[in-house]
Amino acid sequence: MDNDNPGKDLQLIEKYWRHVSSSQGFKYFPLVVSRAKASKVWDINGREYIDFLSSAATYNIGHSNEEVIKAIKEHLDKFIHYCLYLYHEPAIELSELLTEITLGNHRKKVVFGLSGGDANDTALKAAFIYTRRPGVISYTYSYHGTTALGIAVGGSFREEIRKAIPFKDVYFVEYPDTYRCGNIEDPRECGEYHLSKLEDTLKRVNPSSIAAIIMEPIQGDGGVLVPPENYVKGLFKLARENGIIIIDDEVQTGMGRTGKWLAIEHFNVEPDLVVLGKALGGGMPISAVIGRSEILDAAPPQTFFATSAAHALSCVAAIATIKYIKNYNLVEKARELGDYAVKRLNELKEKYEIIGDVRGKGLMIGVEIVKERKQKTPDRKTALKIIWRAWEKGLIMMTYGKYGNVLRIAPPLVISREELDAGINIVDEAIRDVLEGKVPDDVINKMKAWE
Ligand SMILES: Cc1ncc(COP(=O)(O)O)c(C=O)c1O
Repeated sequence: MDNDNPGKDLQLIEKYWRHVSSSQGFKYFPLVVSRAKASKVWDINGREYIDFLSSAATYNIGHSNEEVIKAIKEHLDKFIHYCLYLYHEPAIELSELLTEITLGNHRKKVVFGLSGGDANDTALKAAFIYTRRPGVISYTYSYHGTTALGIAVGGSFREEIRKAIPFKDVYFVEYPDTYRCGNIEDPRECGEYHLSKLEDTLKRVNPSSIAAIIMEPIQGDGGVLVPPENYVKGLFKLARENGIIIIDDEVQTGMGRTGKWLAIEHFNVEPDLVVLGKALGGGMPISAVIGRSEILDAAPPQTFFATSAAHALSCVAAIATIKYIKNYNLVEKARELGDYAVKRLNELKEKYEIIGDVRGKGLMIGVEIVKERKQKTPDRKTALKIIWRAWEKGLIMMTYGKYGNVLRIAPPLVISREELDAGINIVDEAIRDVLEGKVPDDVINKMKAWE
């Protein structure tokens, strides 16, 4: 046991909430992390867990990746960071790598940031400055971070919170959800339907007032929604016709997670700006906007400066991360393991009526929990009980989605098939236990989760 003081975890959590604002954090289950390696996490009581969350899709190359640690240690012997008043090799090498892993033969540039949120903020500001237009189209239930602009364009924030931010030129359109597309069953038709809605919105707001459309190529926090290909293609066409910049937010989907370097590659289109964060730094804080140089260079020097941007330690970690993904074929691995996981989860769907849908790409998978399959009524409470039971049995898995009823399956891409199987077996047992009434209702009150 790592912890010789039973109850210490609860004491620590109580202290956390005493000192840290309730606005920062989620309340799921009481797990205090003491160490993590590859796809495993240990709590301070020495209990081991399989990690199906990867610290919110950050550890694509696994926790405490040895090559990232080596790169950081080697760099630490030289210097920590120097701001961009001067130059350093890690930022220069990383900028070149980033233009190589993103799509398109056009001339590309990079702007570095610290978090996914601030990189989205940069992309939006670059679009406003380049186009001199004031408006943004975003999606219902989208999530782009928590900067002021991030909240303003974040479709998953409550309306009253969004409205508290004094940026009003945001128009929300519905993200295509092929599982719940009214009476429409066919994904193509669903795509057409949503394209016509987008066209209506553009007509209503005057397209020449819109600087950018900001879009997750697979909506993550909305519950792993994969849009129909005809929708994405039509959206790009409409944007091109109207001089609107497309910001492809790959903060959650990027770096191989969906079985491609970028999820937008599933749709055969080329965005103007790509935003990377989370997994880019292999666990170190770094983000980047990569895209058309004429857009990113439209802002005058210093506009996107930040003292710790392109932090040298994070840059060496990101370089090691990109090389690791390439050398160990993690993009292909995500695809293969993802197909396998979806197959196994569909077997569970055969077994349990409460699994309404299994969807995703690569190792970004959502399992939607419903009251019964025909009505598709979302069942957030049961989903929460399932993840609680899974945690008790040694699996870290969370819920998200517009109704908070989607099990989030996003393990590190380095997970072995045996560990993936072990994790899915726990999902199976957890669902069975919940259905057999072995998990009390009051566990729901212990979790605030995504609401
Ligand atoms: C699609 C997407 N964009 C942006 C962000 C924000 O990233 P960060 O938390 O690093 O600011 C997230 C985080 O969950 C995300 O999922």
